[in-house]
Amino acid sequence: MPVNYNEISEKYDNVRSENKSVIDSFIKELKITNSTRILDFGCGTGNYANTLQRLTQAQVYGVEPSGGMRAKAIAKNPSITFVKGNHESIPFEDNYFDFVYMTDVIHHIPDVRRMFAEIGRVTKSGGSLCIVTQSHNQIDNRFYVKYFPSTAIVDKERYPDLDSIISKAHDQSFEHIKNVIIGNGAEIAVTSDFVEFVRNKGFSMFHLIPDAEYTTGLKQLETDVLSGNLKYKHSGETLVWFKKK
Ligand SMILES: C[S@@+](CC[C@H](N)C(=O)[O-])C[C@H]1O[C@@H](n2cnc3c(N)ncnc32)[C@H](O)[C@@H]1O
Repeated sequence: MPVNYNEISEKYDNVRSENKSVIDSFIKELKITNSTRILDFGCGTGNYANTLQRLTQAQVYGVEPSGGMRAKAIAKNPSITFVKGNHESIPFEDNYFDFVYMTDVIHHIPDVRRMFAEIGRVTKSGGSLCIVTQSHNQIDNRFYVKYFPSTAIVDKERYPDLDSIISKAHDQSFEHIKNVIIGNGAEIAVTSDFVEFVRNKGFSMFHLIPDAEYTTGLKQLETDVLSGNLKYKHSGETLVWFKKK
């Protein structure tokens, strides 16, 4: 069942924001100037595009299929060009971008090879691509799997693992440079905010697990958080870096 991002767009920004460490990593890795053309592919409500543009003054663009998500992005920063597009059609000319990134998007793409071909078309030779995702190991180690066990099963079916991403990108003229893991082992205190996030189904996978498991898991989580001092270690995210040949 595909996730309905027009519906989710209403609450998305209540429960999700950009991860500053990811943006710091982009800035550290690349020489971004005010003439660097950057594409946020699957930009959602524009949280990453907005912050990256503010910090670098680069020419940032966003492509997003959902009208609801796009409207939120445009309202947030009308100076960024946010346009309709998807893995089959990115409405820009060939060799346009110096850097393309996507955060939490690849697990929504029905044809990853097609996506790499289309991103390859709009990326300059020598340009960079960064895919921000989680490996299957990181998915298994998410702390909330103990409350919602099916989330790991659902997400390992949705998320291509790193080897598969790298091999499909390679077939479409992207050379794999490195994987950078961030946030791994960081200690996070689970508070009522996270409970509220789960109540709002802040991750799309909460729409994909059985209702009974969601309800039981939420109840247990509420009890544990109320009893206080629930701490967990973040399983981290992986930045998979490529260079266009
Ligand atoms: C979890 S959200 C991430 C949004 C944003 N990148 C962020 O990190 O806040 C996933 C996004 O992928 C978009 N998406 C879904 N299918 C897509 C496709 N075929 N091509 C491009 N984006 C897609 C969704 O509409 C949604 O905005």
